[in-house]
Amino acid sequence: MDQRVIPPQIIGLPGSLRQQSYSLAVLRGLQAHPDLAVDLRIWRLDLPLYNEDEDGSAAPVVVQRFRNAIGRSTGIVIATPEYNHGIPGVLKNALDWASRPFGKSVLIHKPVLVISVSPAFTGGARAHAQVNETLLSIPADVIGGPQVVIGNAASKIVDGSVADKNDLAFAISAVHGMLAYTSARWGQPQSLLAEI
Ligand code: FNR
Repeated sequence: MDQRVIPPQIIGLPGSLRQQSYSLAVLRGLQAHPDLAVDLRIWRLDLPLYNEDEDGSAAPVVVQRFRNAIGRSTGIVIATPEYNHGIPGVLKNALDWASRPFGKSVLIHKPVLVISVSPAFTGGARAHAQVNETLLSIPADVIGGPQVVIGNAASKIVDGSVADKNDLAFAISAVHGMLAYTSARWGQPQSLLAEI
């Protein structure tokens, strides 16, 4: 009987809807990188605005699909810009949807790695800290360690791809850290063997 390796499924959440987004480019760089044996699926966060009246069993279908995808995943990688020294609305909105139902959220103890990206030298560090704080309130399992904060993005991300190999290598090592955490925490292998 043949076996094949099924790579861990990771959901990539860009905190920007912009077509030429630097944050999206970082996720695409991770998605395509040969050093990262993961199935990274990027979700565009154009969800309706959170409304508690529309939540519950009748939550919008797109929200239900979003929650299910998170629930099935091994972990989440968020790559986000900083807007006005804080979390972009689209990302906060998506985390608010994913955080419910209270006490049963698919994000509870889900490993989440946050990467911030900015053309400023500060690299979106303030948004980075705020996203971590939101995640801790759920509580998701925020992956600690050296913060992946990518500054001066305009000179490093060219034509939608990350030209700076050091930044990409740093981000890849953080994703490996998340996979190692997942194995240690849940005792699950980093890759699953499937019989085919
Ligand atoms: C920004 N930008 C920005 N950058 C930053 O480092 N700190 C900040 O507080 C802000 N504030 C801010 C507010 C708003 C409304 C916008 C539109 C932009 C600049 C931002 O980092 C830049 O536009 C990025 O390119 C946006 O990220 P994406 O779309 O490239 O991922």
